[in-house]
Amino acid sequence: MVVGTDQPHVSEGMASGTTIAVDCSDPQLAADQIVRLDSTLSLDAVVAVDEQGVQAAAVASSRLGLPASSPEAVARTRDKALMREALAQGEVDQPAFAVVARGEPPGAAVSRVGLPCVVKPRSMSASRGVIRADTHAEAEEAVRRTRSIVASAGGSPDASVLVESYVPGVEVAVEGMLQDGVLDVLALFDKPDPLTGPYFEETIYVTPSRLSQADQDTVSAVTERACAAIGLTEGPVHAELRGDVGEDPARFRCIEVAARSIGGRCSSVLSFGTGATLEDLIVRQALHMPTARPGPGSPAAGVMMIPIPAAGHLRAVDGRDAALDVAGVVGIEVTAPVGTWIEPVPEGDRYLGFIFAKGDRPADVEAALRAAHSRLRIRIGPRGRPLA
Ligand SMILES: Nc1ncnc2c1ncn2[C@@H]1O[C@H](COP(=O)(O)OP(=O)(O)O)[C@@H](O)[C@H]1O
Ligand SMILES: [Mg+2]
Repeated sequence: MVVGTDQPHVSEGMASGTTIAVDCSDPQLAADQIVRLDSTLSLDAVVAVDEQGVQAAAVASSRLGLPASSPEAVARTRDKALMREALAQGEVDQPAFAVVARGEPPGAAVSRVGLPCVVKPRSMSASRGVIRADTHAEAEEAVRRTRSIVASAGGSPDASVLVESYVPGVEVAVEGMLQDGVLDVLALFDKPDPLTGPYFEETIYVTPSRLSQADQDTVSAVTERACAAIGLTEGPVHAELRGDVGEDPARFRCIEVAARSIGGRCSSVLSFGTGATLEDLIVRQALHMPTARPGPGSPAAGVMMIPIPAAGHLRAVDGRDAALDVAGVVGIEVTAPVGTWIEPVPEGDRYLGFIFAKGDRPADVEAALRAAHSRLRIRIGPRGRPLA
């Protein structure tokens, strides 16, 4: 196994020859670097581990003739406007949408999709720049703010953005694996926090889902059709859907599909068969090796992405021992280094950290995550005063 990375700290401490520098910001260049490696090593598979790498891995796989979703399909997952158009063509249930062209005001787009609406950048992740608006005036302000977030990430200050109708109801996340276009749902997560906006900070994920079997079947079916419409055929997918469970049967609409597994450290709560990780499954599938299936009655598991309470420099996260004492809590990881600047979404671009829990039932896991979180004391210093 060779790790390709543009993060120097990743290669530190690894044996020579086990890492190469890959520039993920330029997928064609990154693919050149991977293809060059193939001439000495004969690669069996190229697997991306995060959103930054998916396009490079798809281009490299296609150039090496390895089975993978096409670069065009993966590109559609990287631009939410292209994704929406592909889903519309495939008649997949999704919110109404309209693209606000570069430099344009959003009035016409908002009139087309209706209020409330959600404004979002075309190519960002982790809810950055995603803002709900209930009036035309709020939508104008949201577009201004989203464009400034895009600009602060190096994009255009008058970027084209997307406006969608706001989908009420519950939200779920699908961890899936595609093989020849057939979707295998490896885990279905409920997101039990009310995600009603105006900002959409990611918090709790709990699996297995507490939705009815009929609703879970609908979620799988919509996800598989969404993958087909986008053109995804192979490898891990992470999809988000929203459903109005007040309707019977509930109608689930596709929020988005990513050509990768769940982000951050969230997958560490999943285990399959006799202890295989999600990453084991992904690598085995890429190598066409048999993969373990989830065992029956697998216990519930969940993760909380620790919300960032305010903008500032992170001073400390106290109370970790007390939080770890909560029954069911199996780990707490603070990933933001002390001293760094953190801020909540929609501007924020990094996670504070994660709380992990396991239990017999999803409700126990959710309660454990909330109890542990309430024991943490997140201390944040004022702007402009970095701490050592
Ligand atoms: N049309 C919508 N209706 C309701 N909520 C939405 C809508 N679009 C996005 N959201 C909320 O915002 C979150 C982030 O939006 P998403 O499109 O998934 O962007 P990102 O790539 O940043 O995750 C979603 O998980 C959901 O909670
Ligand atoms: Mg998302």
